[in-house]
Amino acid sequence: MTQERYARIAGWGKYVPENVLTNDDLAKSVDTSDEWITTRTGIKERRIRGENDTNSSMAVAASEPALEMAGLKATDLDLIIVATSSPDYLLPPVSSQVQDILGAKCGAFQLGAGCSGWVYALAVATQFIKSGAYNNILVVGSEIISFALDYTDRTTCVLFGDAAAAVVLTPSEEPTGVLSFELGSDGSGAEALIVPGAGSSKPLNQDVLDNRENFIRMDGKAVFRFAARTVASSLKRTIDQAGLLPDDIDLFIPHQANARIVEAGARFLRQPAEKFYLNIHKYGNTSTASVPLAFVEAMEEGRLKEGDKVAMIAFGAGLSWATVVAQVGVGDISSAHSLFSYAVKRARNRVVDGAQMAMLPLYTLFRRNKKK
Ligand code: ACO
Repeated sequence: MTQERYARIAGWGKYVPENVLTNDDLAKSVDTSDEWITTRTGIKERRIRGENDTNSSMAVAASEPALEMAGLKATDLDLIIVATSSPDYLLPPVSSQVQDILGAKCGAFQLGAGCSGWVYALAVATQFIKSGAYNNILVVGSEIISFALDYTDRTTCVLFGDAAAAVVLTPSEEPTGVLSFELGSDGSGAEALIVPGAGSSKPLNQDVLDNRENFIRMDGKAVFRFAARTVASSLKRTIDQAGLLPDDIDLFIPHQANARIVEAGARFLRQPAEKFYLNIHKYGNTSTASVPLAFVEAMEEGRLKEGDKVAMIAFGAGLSWATVVAQVGVGDISSAHSLFSYAVKRARNRVVDGAQMAMLPLYTLFRRNKKK
């Protein structure tokens, strides 16, 4: 019998630009306020790329400490995946620049799935290691999303920031790393979050510039509804697939798009809000860098330790989403509950989930009336 292989998260690193843009700074140039941004999103400030920051330089700055922690040289890497929606150039893919700057001698590709990109990449990289095809893989999320923001549009420019974060995966025979995953896409919602111009369907020209179509346009309410629906349901399915219960998860790391989406997710999972990691107040939504950046900071702060189980979910343009349940370091990957208690709690959760879904329209009406 061949030994099962797992993909251990062996190193991690981050890079955030030095430039801080606060809510008060933004309120000087657009019709907004610290009070509105804080209460509607949870964001207080975000980082914006400096003069010398490029997507590739930020990706490399996040990758170097990750490699060092994993005890690897760049030449030990078998594959590099860089998730991004804001590469240095349309061509070449930024992954090849990262490979060259690091001095790696391996394949590299860029992965685009909006804000879900890095979680997609983590699931993909894990499969290469589990199958035995590769040993050491660098998975980076790097984003200079500020380049696609219209700083006259208050409905988008206050939400996003720039950052990069990376992990290194190495093979393990002990259970660890990604235990289950779900990759999702609903392209019928494409218009809800789109840069309408400057792509191949509408190449950059004066019209595109005049209509500001080279910037992100978002139907915030539509994305909010999609995200609030998806976060809890995808987490439930992915946790279930890992043979675990929501109670078994030590920390949830959600995409840092809006603190209210996270609160709704916690309510629907019937989990305490404190189990959901948030650093949105410092960085805003850093797109595909958001989940890995939160993961790195959770590790640095000791919120996750050896053997802990973490559920990570990202969502965004596509519309797309990606969820993984993973174990940090090695340890028992089974549910903390006995087989009998697991079966009973799982059955009970399903009944309560069903009742919750049936009550959803009433609950929404109640909250709407309460707001009025
Ligand atoms: N400052 C002040 N007022 C504002 C601002 C602002 N920055 N933005 C909008 N408003 C106003 C609106 O114009 C509106 O005014 P009106 O009532 O006079 O028309 C009012 O505030 C309410 O606007 P809503 O859009 O209803 O505000 P909402 O509570 O829905 O919050 C938000 C908007 C924060 C965008 C929210 O909808 C949201 O977070 N959506 C999800 C975004 C998301 O998750 N994006 C993921 C992107 S990931 C990727 O792939 C890039």
